[in-house]
Amino acid sequence: MLKPVPSSVTTPDRLRELAALRQRITLWRSEGQRIGFVPTMGALHAGHLALVKHARSLSDKVVVSIFVNPLQFAPHEDFDRYPRREDADSALLAEAGADLVWLPTSELMYPKGFATKIELTGPAEGLETDFRPQFFGGVATVVTKLFNQVTPDIAVFGEKDYQQLKVVQTFTRDLDMPLEVIGLPTIRESDGLALSSRNAYLSAEERDTAAKLHAELHAIAETVQAGGDADASIERAKIRLEAAGFGPIDYIALRDADSLAPPSADSRALRLLAAAWLGKTRLIDNIAV
Ligand code: PAF
Repeated sequence: MLKPVPSSVTTPDRLRELAALRQRITLWRSEGQRIGFVPTMGALHAGHLALVKHARSLSDKVVVSIFVNPLQFAPHEDFDRYPRREDADSALLAEAGADLVWLPTSELMYPKGFATKIELTGPAEGLETDFRPQFFGGVATVVTKLFNQVTPDIAVFGEKDYQQLKVVQTFTRDLDMPLEVIGLPTIRESDGLALSSRNAYLSAEERDTAAKLHAELHAIAETVQAGGDADASIERAKIRLEAAGFGPIDYIALRDADSLAPPSADSRALRLLAAAWLGKTRLIDNIAV
């Protein structure tokens, strides 16, 4: 349930025109304000609000964009049913301390004749890309456009989408984009389920089962930390998840935490990443190992 916005909280302006956004950013810059940015697709939950609060703590002004980006969905995916609730989202953003909500239109983002693609390698290879080949190209395109529109000093992304975070950090570094991309740990329900806008798709029964994904990642991580066989542990976890009702399991993989390549002797830290279907909902999660 949405809590009513206390009267002391100022509702952030909602802008839809690039000229108006640029004018506001120019004004803030002339005042020497540091600008933080959180890109979202809306359907905001406590995980997004934590990103906004973190951006707030690191900057003077916080811009949050809401744009359900068609480019990162394949035709058979959930673009049409992705939850859209602009008014409720704006009220939550007021409480979290956002100064501006940027709501670009599809016509502004992808006008007729739009013809540019960003080609990604490195951390964009494998994992999500094996199952959603369009995804990171779409994310890189929209995030680059949003960065060019908002021109933030910092942008905050959730570790929930760990591969996305690494891809964004990599292309911003490679393309000399003048901002810092900061990752924030995943916010979880009390039973461990990672917060996600897509959790809204889960039935009550699926919701009870959903937390098992996180529990199994923990079980694998413990085995690996104790020097056990990662592959065997992953296979056992997959069998238990399938018995609990998950399937198909797109991947459960142990990777180098920076490059997302398979672990090597040079790996300084490891990350365990997973994506699995529960009914009609695709859940992703990851933990540090
Ligand atoms: O993580 C998301 O919500 C989206 O992928 C993002 C970064 C807003 C780009 O559309």
